[in-house]
Amino acid sequence: MEEKKKIIGLVAGRHNGNSEILVKEALMACEEAGMDCRLINLFDYEILPCTGCEGCTMQMGDVARGILPEYKGCVLKDKDDMDKIINAIQTSDGLVIGVPTYDLAPSALYLKYAHRALAYEVSFRLEIGHLKKDPNLVAGLIAVGGSRHDWQTMALEVLGASMFTQSIQVVDQMMAVGNGRPGNVLLHDDQIAKAREIGQHVAQAVNTPVGERTWLGDPDAGVCPNCHSSLIFPGEVHWDGRQYPFECAVCGCGGDLIIDENKKPKFIIDPETGRDCDRNVNEARAYHLQEILHARIEYMQKQDSVKDKYQMYKDKKFPAI
Ligand SMILES: Cc1cc2nc3c(=O)[nH]c(=O)nc-3n(C[C@H](O)[C@H](O)[C@H](O)COP(=O)(O)O)c2cc1C
Repeated sequence: MEEKKKIIGLVAGRHNGNSEILVKEALMACEEAGMDCRLINLFDYEILPCTGCEGCTMQMGDVARGILPEYKGCVLKDKDDMDKIINAIQTSDGLVIGVPTYDLAPSALYLKYAHRALAYEVSFRLEIGHLKKDPNLVAGLIAVGGSRHDWQTMALEVLGASMFTQSIQVVDQMMAVGNGRPGNVLLHDDQIAKAREIGQHVAQAVNTPVGERTWLGDPDAGVCPNCHSSLIFPGEVHWDGRQYPFECAVCGCGGDLIIDENKKPKFIIDPETGRDCDRNVNEARAYHLQEILHARIEYMQKQDSVKDKYQMYKDKKFPAI
C-alpha cells in the first residue's frame, strides 16, 4: 500500500488561538483528502535565536570552493529542538503555516524559527549531498491579525520571504483580519472556509507531479503576478550594476508598475530579464550566494587596512544598564 502523504501544520500563535484554529481547519481538509497530518506549535519547542555567527554560510562557501570536506550544520544543532523540527518538515510533503501578525509582520517566535532555517538551506545541501532527497515542499500561508491589511502590511510578505531557504512553493495564502481574542476567528465563517480551501489546495498540490504544481489561490491576489505579494518598491542599483524601475520586495522580480484600465496597480515583470532575480529559483539564489562571497572576499582582502580602526571600536566601551 502506498504510504500516506504527510502534511505538517506549523503554528506560531497561542494554544487554542486563532492561528491554531485556522491551521487545524486546513489540516482537517488534508486529513479528509487521505493525508497523515501533524501539528507543531512552536510555543511547545525550544528554539534559540540565530547567533549571527555566519558559521553556516561560511561553511557553505568553503565546501563549495573545496576548502572544507563536509558541511557540519548550525553551531546550535544539538542545543535545542530546531534540528528535530526541520527534519520533520523536510521529510514531509506539505505545510500549512499559521502565524499571528505582531507589529505588522510575523511574530518573533516564527522569525526565530525562520532565521535558524538558513543553516538547512535545501538547494545547497542537495548540491553537496548533505540532504539526500529534495522534499519539494508546498505550503499554504495564513497570517492572522487583529486588524485589517493596513495593520498587517508585511505579514504575508515576510512569511513568503521565509520560504526561499527551504525551496518551498507557496500554492495559496490568506490574511485573516479582525481577530483579537483567541477564538475570535470563529465569528468569521468566510475565514474558516478559506482556511479549509487552503488545506484542500495543499493536498491537491501534493498529489500533483512536481513540475506541474502551480499557484491555486486567487489569480488576482496581491500585486506581483509571480509571488502575489503586495509590496512593490522603486528599484535601486544591485551589486552587479543591474537595475529595474520597480521590484517585488518578496520574490525580487523586476519590472514596471502601471495603473491598468480599471485603475488598479499592476506590476508588469520585464519579459526579458525580470525573472533573473526571482528568489524562488535556485539558480537566482545561487547568484546571491556569489554576492555574499564577493563581499566576504573583498573584506578579507582589505581587512588589514581597517585593523586599527576596528581595534578602536572594540576598545571603546560604554556601560550597560
Ligand atoms: C505584541 C503584539 C503585537 C500585535 N500587533 C498586531 C499588528 O501589528 N497588527 C494586527 O493586525 N494585529 C496585531 N496583534 C494582534 C494579534 O495578531 C491577534 O491577537 C491574533 O489573533 C493573535 O493570533 P493567535 O490567536 O493565533 O495567537 C498583536 C498582538 C500582540 C500580542
